[in-house]
Amino acid sequence: MTKLKNDTLIRALLRESTPYTPIWLMRQAGRYLPEYRQTRARAGDFLGLCKNPDLATEVTLQPLARYALDAAIVFSDILTIPDAMGLGLYFAEGEGPKFERPLREEWEIRDLSAPDPATHLRYVLDTVSQARRALDGSVPLIGFSGSPFTLACYMIEGQGSSDFALVKKMLYQRPDLLHHILTVNTSAVIAYLNAQIEAGAQAVMMFDTWGGMLSHAAFHEFSLAYTARIIAGLKREHAGVRVPSIVFTKGGGGWLESIAATGCDAVGLDWTVDIGAARARGGARVALQGNKDPAVLLSSPETIQREAGAILERYGRSNGQIFNLGHGISQHTPPENVSVLIEAVHGLSVGYH
Ligand code: CP3
Repeated sequence: MTKLKNDTLIRALLRESTPYTPIWLMRQAGRYLPEYRQTRARAGDFLGLCKNPDLATEVTLQPLARYALDAAIVFSDILTIPDAMGLGLYFAEGEGPKFERPLREEWEIRDLSAPDPATHLRYVLDTVSQARRALDGSVPLIGFSGSPFTLACYMIEGQGSSDFALVKKMLYQRPDLLHHILTVNTSAVIAYLNAQIEAGAQAVMMFDTWGGMLSHAAFHEFSLAYTARIIAGLKREHAGVRVPSIVFTKGGGGWLESIAATGCDAVGLDWTVDIGAARARGGARVALQGNKDPAVLLSSPETIQREAGAILERYGRSNGQIFNLGHGISQHTPPENVSVLIEAVHGLSVGYH
């Protein structure tokens, strides 16, 4: 495999020195790009796009053709795992993800097993290897998965929710059942991320989108404990090169120290956290990724530049920063504003390195 021409992301994740602060954006390939909407139409729908490695590779590369991003992220979805477990994922137009067969009965939960990525998730691994080949060492490719808890949320509820009441009811009434689901999900995530690493992913990220809705005690028991097992089970190297790991818990700013203690290389932060304070709390131990409010990209170039500068200033002169948004980019983002952000981060950050 060719050596990386731009390895700033990997270096920053490992808290090594870089000439500037690398930047990539969660959901950087997506609906705000007209070329994405075109490719999705060719695929038929979102899931058809995810399951077609040629088109998923095309979409993975689209934001890199437009912008000087420092990483690509494989185009897929976190819900591929429960789909491969047989729950029947579908996306109703404008309604987000749904499952035909959510986990409702105890026997359904006892019947769950971790899918073999090489067979049931072959299409994701094919996208990873095709995207890696197409990138030709220009920037690193990030692989990802959902956290066991966030996957369980969708598997139990059958769709998104404002309060995940069914999940919380199970957590308090039948913690044994929830622990069973989480144990299976943990094996699934470890196998899936390691398979992505073997297929060519150069860093991996775990999205714990709903961990932040848990109480302090429940977060540690039902989300973080499993995250720690995953980090321990991941390949740390592939072909002699370190593969850094990133853990993102939305709403998890208060738990930075415990997330850092899982042994991950970097922690993703949402926009509610002051990144300067976060660095003081956990920064010596992990790199920090984030954390601009995605809504900033709906504003003017001057505001975007000022807001980018503010985060760089708060983080200060130190290694280990990866600029990103605090959550996925909004579909209403004007594409030209993304160039403004990337240029601002690249230009302004040189002064801090
Ligand atoms: O970052 C990237 O560019 C990689 C692609 C990516 C997608 N989903 C593509 C996508 C990633 C990393 C995800 C992760 C994901 N998926 C998460 C965790 C991160 C987060 O956002 O909290 C979650 C919870 C999901 C489940 C999911 N998939 C939801 C809730 C939705 C609907 C959300 C929405 O904005 O409508 C999806 C669909 C989805 N996943 C889209 C994309 C580009 C939009 C689908 C479309 O094209 O219509």
